Amino acid sequence: MTIIDKLLKTAKNQHHVAKTPPLTKRRGKKAETLQDKARDHLWMHFTRQGPLSAGAEVPIIVKGSGHHIWDDKGKKYFDGLSGLFVVNAGHGRKRLAEVAAKQAEELAFFPLWSYAHPSAIELADKLADYAPGDLNKVFFTTGGGEAVESAFKLAKQYWKLMGKPMKHKVISRNIAYHGTPQGALAITGIPAMKAMFEPLTPGGFRVPNTNYYRAEEMGFPGGTEEEFGLWAANRIEEMIEFEGAETVAAVFLEPVQNSGGCFPPPPGYFQRVREICDKHDVLLVSDEVICAFGRIGEMFACTAFDYVPDIITCAKGMTSGYSPIGAMITSDRLFEPFAKGNTTFYHGYTFGGHPVSAAVALENLKIFEEEKINEHVRENSPKFRAALERLLDIPIVGDVRGAGYFFGIELVKNKTTKETFSEAESEKLLRGFLSKALFQAGLYCRADDRGDPVIQLAPPLTIGPTEFDEIEAILRDVLTRASKLL
Ligand SMILES: Cc1ncc(COP(=O)(O)O)c(C=O)c1O
Repeated sequence: MTIIDKLLKTAKNQHHVAKTPPLTKRRGKKAETLQDKARDHLWMHFTRQGPLSAGAEVPIIVKGSGHHIWDDKGKKYFDGLSGLFVVNAGHGRKRLAEVAAKQAEELAFFPLWSYAHPSAIELADKLADYAPGDLNKVFFTTGGGEAVESAFKLAKQYWKLMGKPMKHKVISRNIAYHGTPQGALAITGIPAMKAMFEPLTPGGFRVPNTNYYRAEEMGFPGGTEEEFGLWAANRIEEMIEFEGAETVAAVFLEPVQNSGGCFPPPPGYFQRVREICDKHDVLLVSDEVICAFGRIGEMFACTAFDYVPDIITCAKGMTSGYSPIGAMITSDRLFEPFAKGNTTFYHGYTFGGHPVSAAVALENLKIFEEEKINEHVRENSPKFRAALERLLDIPIVGDVRGAGYFFGIELVKNKTTKETFSEAESEKLLRGFLSKALFQAGLYCRADDRGDPVIQLAPPLTIGPTEFDEIEAILRDVLTRASKLL
């Protein structure tokens, strides 16, 4: 069955589920509860609305403090995903709320279109300090997808200005997620997420990711992790040569790939990629929308893996979610053709570098420094990994992988053969059981089946060994029950 067939089938099924009268019929009847209002008016992101229209409850989160969140019924949960890889410094930091209020009073808004304001200037300076090499120029956005989109557009314009106008193609990895704008979506490597929006921005090409657990299924003939890293990096060179280096603008890679379940780079991988990019005049974009700001124990994760990209894209944890912002940080080399004459990057966002968000980001980064959050992550990451690895005695737990405070647990049908679940089994296991059971057991995290089924964990960076044990206990209970279900 093709992806389009699957989409049509799903759409047909969902159409049958939605038996609720059309909203127009209910107008006039005042929705009384938040549940009613949510069902009637709130179009949630990446969400199957059918079950909600048919009466399923919308989980409503009303409060957060530290690594905990509460729903509207007063039930407390462990936030095992920092909202959405965002609340790195933890919930309920009064100091960040106060800074936001102060900035809103002082100057609530001004654009960065030919004008500037102090908080964006200070934040650009701070980010340039943290960024490696000559990554000194900061272009603000409101989120991660816009940062990726900006990098795609900058890469195209840069090569045009350098007299290489054919360089427009972009290479990324299988199952990688890079955002939803049509350019970023062309870089995203998840076919099912793109099929309904085709034709997308042309020029996106895919290479193998760094899932060592499934390396041989990707064509790796077998060997050490280092050899796999070299093999995977060489697939990038193969693609550049196949497409013609004169047509390839950039390679977009996450330091640790999220989608598919936390694939860290094998040793030597990024060093080889850097070499390939330099050899073929291709820009290396480090998409750190998730990995920056402490998730891997450094302000920028490329530092942790010892490579210097040409562009970093980042967002999420920059403010720990207290206000939205994103950024594209580029090297002096990329800025150089824009530093002359009338040349302009014709690109921008009204809310890019919003004063309130920039002020909050500065305060958030100050907290990182004062509380030594990166050091805390580096010190405790091995203990977190060890707690999760204890789950490997459960029959369906196939692999535990990740880095920093960012881990994926791959679930398999057969541990010896690594056989994965069929689509129907995965649907039953993840959506039918795990997501709900984990939430009911008090752990908010992600059960993801965009690649092979995984549980993903990315808790606030403030937690320690006691909380790792708590996460392990909940996962042990729920995954053991899930094993028996099959
Ligand atoms: C690696 C990566 N790039 C881009 C994005 C898109 O970011 P946003 O949702 O802020 O647009 C995400 C979101 O999760 C991401 O993980």
